[in-house]
Amino acid sequence: MEYRIILIGCGTVGQGLLEIFDRKAEQLRDQHDFEPKVVAITDKLKGSVVAPDGLNIKKVLSLLKEGKKLNDYDGPRLKVEDFLDPLDLIEQVEADIMAEMTYTDIKTGEPATSYIKKALRTGKHVVTSNKGPAALHYHELKELANLNQRQFRIEGTVMSGTPVFHLVENGLAGNDIREIRGILNGTTNFILSKMETDGMEYDEALKLAQELGYAEADPTADVEGFDAVAKVVILANALMGGKIKPDEVKRQGISALRKKDILEAKAAGLRYKLIAKVKKDGSRIEASVSPEKLPFSDPLAGVMGAQNALTFDTDLMGKVTIQGAGAGRIETGFSILSDMLAISRGEKKK
Ligand code: HSE
Repeated sequence: MEYRIILIGCGTVGQGLLEIFDRKAEQLRDQHDFEPKVVAITDKLKGSVVAPDGLNIKKVLSLLKEGKKLNDYDGPRLKVEDFLDPLDLIEQVEADIMAEMTYTDIKTGEPATSYIKKALRTGKHVVTSNKGPAALHYHELKELANLNQRQFRIEGTVMSGTPVFHLVENGLAGNDIREIRGILNGTTNFILSKMETDGMEYDEALKLAQELGYAEADPTADVEGFDAVAKVVILANALMGGKIKPDEVKRQGISALRKKDILEAKAAGLRYKLIAKVKKDGSRIEASVSPEKLPFSDPLAGVMGAQNALTFDTDLMGKVTIQGAGAGRIETGFSILSDMLAISRGEKKK
């Protein structure tokens, strides 16, 4: 089945998704009956292109690799000057799914939240990897989606394409989740790991994390725990029925930790990790992000480098731990694909 798709934002994640569409076209069609037809792309820096008959993905990818604008696309398309504002584009272009992959603004959730509302109101399913709208407006957006009989899916907001939401929605369905506890920020886990295994100082390890592209544009969001706070709020609200806000989460980052603290802990058989936690007690939900010294026997203590992990404490299955990538071009591109496949499975059941 063909799905008309709009991409809002075509940076690392959007290009990762396009690469997957290109590389996996046959497998997606033959094994999943999923044929993506990208009908519009708009990006703040790279311009826009609208083509109701579908874009040639290879052409788009090579255009972007050459550092050219989407407006330079050579093929059948509409006049792009008619769509200068992404909100107009979302309203006017007919599509089945909108993938929202713009930057995260954790204070306002904008402009992504307005894009998502516009798409749901104009009958499109929405998939996003953006933490802002999911952390600040999850219930409102989910209700709007339900009202319009569309899906609002957020797999990429926590642990990139590692299937956190799919796991709870499918594999663990029927369980009550009492607690979720884990490592949700790759940058800080990388820094803590490097301080221990390579004897690096904090600043040196942070610089390397930035060079490798793990850190947010402003690494304060990582090292002071704001990024993990956004993710733990999303988990609390989307998976445990919470209604909490980021400023209600107790937060402490890792910027005060030095190599000496890490090595002292190690000598005592312990390892520092930035732990994000959300616990349900009756109707009360409490969340926190702070460095903890874990015994080596804790599964989370063995998670090194930029990897993420989560332990779900459930009533029927006890503790279930999942570990995997928390960021990355292809990994987060995959999160968008996995949500699109879930939408397509849902459409087929109708
Ligand atoms: N800066 C984030 C991290 C990227 O280090 O985990 C993924 O949200």
